[in-house]
Amino acid sequence: MIVNVNKNNTDFERKHAPKIECKDVVKVNEIYEVKLYMEVEHPMEKEHYIQYIELYAEDYPLAKIFLTPYAKPEVTLKIKAPSEGHEGREFRLIAYAYCNLHGIWKSEKKIKIEG
Ligand SMILES: [Fe+2]
Repeated sequence: MIVNVNKNNTDFERKHAPKIECKDVVKVNEIYEVKLYMEVEHPMEKEHYIQYIELYAEDYPLAKIFLTPYAKPEVTLKIKAPSEGHEGREFRLIAYAYCNLHGIWKSEKKIKIEG
């Protein structure tokens, strides 16, 4: 299910779709922080938990974090922005979270690249 996390989402959606928190504009080659988390706390128990969170820049995989019931589904990553030649363009950060009971959830955020 694709969910662009915002205030209108249900608690069930906000419990599963990872919220992407980072700056809206990055410079070429900049190392910037991306925080991924659930706005509403999701259970982390043996029978029901978030098994992994993934981050992509469009189709390019950036990170995949595997979790256990003993970890909070929240992570801050340092990501390198696209290189020269991409100034003025936009790209989407796409995050997935996989719940063993409720499947895979996706959210997106647009980032602009400046020189
Ligand atoms: Fe779930």
